[in-house]
Amino acid sequence: MMTRKRYALSALSMMGFLFAAGTANAAVDWASVPGKDIVLFYPGQSSFEWSMTAGDMSGATAFRNEGKDCGTCHIGEEKDMGPQIVSGKARTFKTGEKPSIEPTPIAGKPGDVPATVKFANDGTNLMVHIEFKEGTQPDAKQDAAFATKVTVMFSAAKVPEFGRMGCWSACHDDAASMASGAGATRTKYLPKTHAKLTRQGGGDALKPAGELATLKADGYVLEYWQARLNQGAPAQAAQGTVFDKREEVKPSAVTAEATFANGTWSVTLSRKLAGGAVNFAPDGKYNVGIAIHAGHTAQRFHYVSFERSLAINSGSADFVAVKK
Ligand code: HEC
Repeated sequence: MMTRKRYALSALSMMGFLFAAGTANAAVDWASVPGKDIVLFYPGQSSFEWSMTAGDMSGATAFRNEGKDCGTCHIGEEKDMGPQIVSGKARTFKTGEKPSIEPTPIAGKPGDVPATVKFANDGTNLMVHIEFKEGTQPDAKQDAAFATKVTVMFSAAKVPEFGRMGCWSACHDDAASMASGAGATRTKYLPKTHAKLTRQGGGDALKPAGELATLKADGYVLEYWQARLNQGAPAQAAQGTVFDKREEVKPSAVTAEATFANGTWSVTLSRKLAGGAVNFAPDGKYNVGIAIHAGHTAQRFHYVSFERSLAINSGSADFVAVKK
């Protein structure tokens, strides 16, 4: 139905339709796809290592010993967590006070961003549609090129850390702008790629090449899709992987479309189901984490979701990419 309407448009926009890399997106009537509301929150310097240390985050022991995942304890609390972390002040809990985990707060920055997330597939492409209000964002002047960036990170079920702790599996204490970063330009990495992890992170010593090759061949990798946004300009898409470091894939096989109206961004990211670092198949189990940089921010100064699961076509998961 949507397609028919499109063809009735002028020759010019029809050319746009034929040649736009995001053709599949245009065919999905997102109003007909069920959405899930989630809340992204501002995480400050809460790294993998921080969250694994009971003295810093008291849930660490239950995570390690009782198999409790981050989201089990925290989904539903994001609106309390984000605002107190973003303030840069000491944080208050029923059990007492904990020190700040944001040494360089951005004045006036909101602590959380609610979003509605929908997944669909058309048998060829996987599509994710995210609607969110970023609120009134101060300009952090960290990324002059883009006001807002929306990133969806995926793994197959072969990255257990990502399944249990989402983005924290890749966010280490010695990455750029993190507590043990010490001016380093280190990007995200998965824990098993590094020879040794300490409270300060994995440093630069990797596992031997043979072990890295085996991990990669086993699907131990994350893939991310990103939409880079400015109001009134076409979205720019990026694709990349996280293994021993974060690397952009060029050219991007991911396409992005976005609109902004009444304070709400509507962003659609898509690529073919097959062929990326993560290969999407109907019987596969996937994990997902979502991040939003708003207010010209970069690095850790973003909003993040806790870990979520994804199924293609049907299945029991937080998100189901319904067939359209
Ligand atoms: C067993 C429950 C439990 C689990 C599992 C758990 N946490 Fe926590 N988390 C807590 C509690 C309780 C606090 C409050 C502060 C404290 O006691 O350390 C907390 C605090 C936090 C905070 C700071 C919140 C604020 O308002 O400042 C962050 C961020 C956090 N946890 C992230 C994580 C991550 C990431 C994981 C998974 C690796 C995780 N948590 C797993 C119980 C848990």
